[in-house]
Amino acid sequence: MDLLQELVEQALQKVAQAATLVELEQLRVQYLGKKSQFSELMKGLGTLDPKERPQAGARIHAAREALQEQLNAKFLQVERQARDRQLAAEVVDVTLPGRKEPRGTLHPVRRVLNRIQLMFQQAGFAVVDGPEIEDDFHNFEALNIPEQHPARAMHDTFYFDAHTLLRTHTSPVQIRTMEQGKPPFRIICPGRVYRCDSDMTHSPMFHQVEGLLVDEGINFADLKGLVADFLVRYFEQEVAVRFRPSYFPFTEPSAEIDVQCVHCAGSGCRVCKQTGWLEIGGCGLVHPSVLQHGGVDSRQWTGLAFGMGVERLAMLSYGVQDLRLFFENDVRFLRQFA
Ligand code: PHE
Repeated sequence: MDLLQELVEQALQKVAQAATLVELEQLRVQYLGKKSQFSELMKGLGTLDPKERPQAGARIHAAREALQEQLNAKFLQVERQARDRQLAAEVVDVTLPGRKEPRGTLHPVRRVLNRIQLMFQQAGFAVVDGPEIEDDFHNFEALNIPEQHPARAMHDTFYFDAHTLLRTHTSPVQIRTMEQGKPPFRIICPGRVYRCDSDMTHSPMFHQVEGLLVDEGINFADLKGLVADFLVRYFEQEVAVRFRPSYFPFTEPSAEIDVQCVHCAGSGCRVCKQTGWLEIGGCGLVHPSVLQHGGVDSRQWTGLAFGMGVERLAMLSYGVQDLRLFFENDVRFLRQFA
């Protein structure tokens, strides 16, 4: 029993001094495990006088219990201390102002596109899409540009094979729209087009917005009104608009759309090459055979169409002199449109 007393005191002291869970676990094994001195003592009970046995057994048992309890309490305490230390070390000051992500800006071409789309949507036009990989029929044939037509030479087409190409304009969407629905039509189609051409004012990929309006009794006055109205609203000033007679195989009559130079108000400058006018795109009344190719009865319906260069509009709005800047993705250029 003296041994027991000594053992318990020694154990309790060690438990009190232990500072880590590992140490505590070692003490548990040492004092309460199967091969511990407590177990030895228990085994020794058999050698005692049977009368003393119950009392001695009870004391050993009580001592074990007391030690176990101390161990448990100490376990909890060490665990809590470890957690408190961790919480203190990992504390986050949520009152610190956050580090902001630098905000990007819309590309100028996208801004112009969004603006054009919104304006036409407000005028009741639907925005439609078409494939950039086109077939010869939709890009040329159905638009009145048959195989040997000289107008094909103007397009500098990228061909995949004899029938497949990158669309050279958004006009094929006129045909696709008419094929898929019934008149009246009132759509614009913004999108990428491709031509094998590259200099200060041409890039192999650029954007156009096609417009198509098919209804009964549509005439050239509707076309002039619609385009002029759009340009005045787009440039936010009373710009003069000029319709210069021109030729496209898919429209008749056809015209080139010029707007009075927004930089010099028509008096002549570098931007308009001293002419006072800027070329924006082409337009015309849809050729009857184009309507027929789209499955529209040209005796009942007439239509107007236009196609405008988006980069061209962006250059004019923002005073950008070199078209290639739009495609180089130089952040110093792009940041100016924040
Ligand atoms: N598709 C013509 C071009 O790219 C533009 C155009 C569209 C002209 C619609 C008339 C009508 O040059």
